[in-house]
Amino acid sequence: MDTYNISSNFYDAFTMATGYARVPRRLVRFFREYAPINALPADSHVMDFGAGTGRLTRKLPTLGKRMRLTAMEPSSFMSDKLRVSLERSGHTFIEGGFDANTGTFTHRLEPRQFNLVASAGVFDHIRITPDVMQEFARLIKPRGYLLFTHGRNDGREKITNVLGYPHDVYVEHAPAYVDACLRGAGLVPRGSECITGFIVTPLNTLGAKWHISRMRMVLAQKPG
Ligand SMILES: C[S@@+](CC[C@H](N)C(=O)[O-])C[C@H]1O[C@@H](n2cnc3c(N)ncnc32)[C@H](O)[C@@H]1O
Repeated sequence: MDTYNISSNFYDAFTMATGYARVPRRLVRFFREYAPINALPADSHVMDFGAGTGRLTRKLPTLGKRMRLTAMEPSSFMSDKLRVSLERSGHTFIEGGFDANTGTFTHRLEPRQFNLVASAGVFDHIRITPDVMQEFARLIKPRGYLLFTHGRNDGREKITNVLGYPHDVYVEHAPAYVDACLRGAGLVPRGSECITGFIVTPLNTLGAKWHISRMRMVLAQKPG
């Protein structure tokens, strides 16, 4: 989280340069491919978890009519402009996130209010745990969706280890573990797709170390 106490201008320029900027776009395309055509009815309520500068938030309204948005993001440095633009257009911004120490979200939200909870680029920084998935499941309406990316451990040694990349910046999860957390929370995996190859450099040693990132996009649904 401290990694992202950076200005929104810097983040946007940095993620263009590293190639990450295409991931939120791709996640939205993935949702279109895997979810049924009427998955998000008019007036759907959609959350962007770990919204950052709003790269994903801005793409989400293309998925439905008159969508109501809630963006949650712990870093006010990242999200200064996003907060203003959301609130100006009647949407909601919450400064907060998931607190791994307590296993809860920093804000207690009403259950069963979201047709979709979406998140890009967050679960390669924080761990996926049964607690996080249970909280998402609680917030999603019956037949609603969870859409996210995570750092993917596919059994190969982390390239980051070879290069001496700081291990605390990125976390990776085995797909089977992620799917077990989803099922444990009562969510049904509906599809997944792997992305490989955008190049990232750590913020604190710009230009020094590079690695190839492996991510996975996941769509899950709450039965109902
Ligand atoms: C790679 S950025 C992605 C931002 C945005 N989703 C995007 O795709 O551009 C990771 C984001 O996760 C947020 N984050 C870090 N720890 C978090 C937590 N515990 N709960 C919620 N968000 C968190 C960071 O503040 C940062 O904005």
